Amino acid sequence: MQVWVANDYDEMSRQAAQLIADLIRKKPTAVLGLATGSTPLGLYAELVRLHQQEGLDFSRVTTFNLDEYWGLADDHPASYHRFMWDNLFSKINIRPEAVHIPSGVAADLDAECARYEEQIRRAGGIDLQVLGIGHNGHIGFNEPGTPFSSRTHRCVLTTDTRTANARFFASMDQVPREAVSMGIATIMEARRILLLANGSNKAAAIGAAVHGPVSEEVPASVLQRHPDVIVLVDRAAAARLQKAS
Ligand code: GLP
Repeated sequence: MQVWVANDYDEMSRQAAQLIADLIRKKPTAVLGLATGSTPLGLYAELVRLHQQEGLDFSRVTTFNLDEYWGLADDHPASYHRFMWDNLFSKINIRPEAVHIPSGVAADLDAECARYEEQIRRAGGIDLQVLGIGHNGHIGFNEPGTPFSSRTHRCVLTTDTRTANARFFASMDQVPREAVSMGIATIMEARRILLLANGSNKAAAIGAAVHGPVSEEVPASVLQRHPDVIVLVDRAAAARLQKAS
């Protein structure tokens, strides 16, 4: 794992955007895996700036998002569909048909999961997967205990995760109890992984992911087995890292 420690959130976001911009310039048909949550908001704002001011071209890029809440329609204000369109896709020149996000309201969930896996396969796999991390070490919505062999699947959210995400909903009982997420094995097939984290409340999870035993109890620890991972964090999130670079 390469560990990069940025001075602050803005620098982390700029470095992450630069990595993605370099990839798109080198490979205009790049396939990106994208994440939601507060962490990548600065990255998306910077990608929008690079598109608007420096002409970064997304016209041949394909994207796959990690996850969606189960039960939320695409146009629900707290859905990850809305999040991605509001914060990134509506502001760049990506083709709508090149955007993929699992459906939270598919009639047949198993078929939806299989379809999503097939779409990733047909796109040639993911070149660069962006990840955030939950306080409990989750990636996507793969909570502690999720098998490393998992593929796109329905996940039951822990109370910890629902509480952390309650800020996006009017009240706790409106936070969905389930989600659909790429599995750990799906994520591990990406050719390169960029794990982002900022703030002291992520320091323990980052420490466990990078230095802890590889265990299904800390889903992000599986990344130690991937050949090309960049962990890009701000100083606060790096507090439990043994060797900061
Ligand atoms: C959710 C998402 C994850 C994300 C995590 C952390 O659970 N499913 O992909 O990494 O939140 O979110 P935040 O960046 O807001 O801390």
